[in-house]
Amino acid sequence: MIDHPVALDPARIRPDFPALAMQVHGHPLAYLDNAATTQKPNQVLEVVDDYYRHSNANVHRAIYELGTRATEAYEGARQKAADFIGADSRSIIFTRGTTEAINLVAYAWGRKELHPGDEVLLTEIEHHSNLVPWQLAVKDTGATLRHIPLGADQSLDLTNLDDLLSSRTRLVALGHQSNALGNVNPVAQIIRRAREVGALVLLDGAQAAPHFPIDVSALDCDFYALSGHKMLGPTGVGLLYGRRDLLESMDPFMGGGEMISSVTLDSAEWNEVPWKFEAGTPNIAQAIGLGAAVDYLTALGMDRVRQTIDDLSAYAAEVLGALPGVTLYGDAATRSGALSFNMEGVHPHDMAQFLDGVGIAVRAGHHCAQPLMERLGVSATTRASFQIYNTREEIDRLGVAVREAAAFMLGV
Ligand SMILES: Cc1ncc(COP(=O)(O)O)c(C=O)c1O
Repeated sequence: MIDHPVALDPARIRPDFPALAMQVHGHPLAYLDNAATTQKPNQVLEVVDDYYRHSNANVHRAIYELGTRATEAYEGARQKAADFIGADSRSIIFTRGTTEAINLVAYAWGRKELHPGDEVLLTEIEHHSNLVPWQLAVKDTGATLRHIPLGADQSLDLTNLDDLLSSRTRLVALGHQSNALGNVNPVAQIIRRAREVGALVLLDGAQAAPHFPIDVSALDCDFYALSGHKMLGPTGVGLLYGRRDLLESMDPFMGGGEMISSVTLDSAEWNEVPWKFEAGTPNIAQAIGLGAAVDYLTALGMDRVRQTIDDLSAYAAEVLGALPGVTLYGDAATRSGALSFNMEGVHPHDMAQFLDGVGIAVRAGHHCAQPLMERLGVSATTRASFQIYNTREEIDRLGVAVREAAAFMLGV
């Protein structure tokens, strides 16, 4: 018998999240837009508040007590984030989020290393954050983009991976988990094949990091990007993990204070990694808040977090999949966290608005994945996405409300 970790009890989790006690339009809030951003526990809110009340000073420069406290808390958060994904803290760069982390690589590595004839391999299902920075990079460098297609079963089709990967491939960049489909991509297999042709690998972990344990050493990826606000932390902070030797060889992304070791009127020398990539005053409070979110998730156990979200996602697929007229998207074998669906004859925006009327927050639109929507032949989907504080009752409410929306709008 396989031993599964025990799912978390939402009754014990929910009191930590003050926003979940809200009423919306006279109904209890059912917050099901966690792929966009998550709610924050008191443990994070209090740490951020406490920082501003008792430790507020700039980091790395102030020679007084508050400055020491701020620097220790900021660098402590870097260590926590590093431990969370199995990395050395010197290979962790704080950014504004996943978008900035990927842009950092596209500028600091891509503009230096990509040349005409080189290829960057992406997939058809990427978030725009892992698509547009590469479109800009190949435009500037003369390199070319290629894409792993989506298969008929809505998982990545790796049939032609040998043709897509060659000695011309310099980088493979893909989502660890899709925000629009919930698919967990077969990254181990793709990384192994990328290695055989000498390509680097960047994983967009915006959706994976909040859902399951991440170990960048075991994954053997070169870069890993994530966003704090999607994993119970504050907005405005995320991180880029990069292999140390690559980070050493890359030029800075932005110039300014903090990222230098010395400056003359005409030139500058760079600070050590990772500070070489953290120009200007960083998002100190947010980074410390991210450290608190990491503490919170670690105390719960990421195996249990995964089990909880997998259970909720499977239940939602069962409830919504049983409704007449509903199409579910994504690869049923790996899909978790986010569940995209459409009700025949009801526009996703109308669906989301109807659901909002009964206190249920979901996302409707292209989910920053327009090429994927085109591939699916739809302009948009409705997406419910889950976190540890969601309940089966909320999913039951979603099922009832989706049926009512159809009855209201289609008269069925
Ligand atoms: C898979 C994926 N990548 C990247 C991003 C961008 O994250 P951020 O807006 O926090 O930079 C998102 C956000 O929705 C995402 O889901």
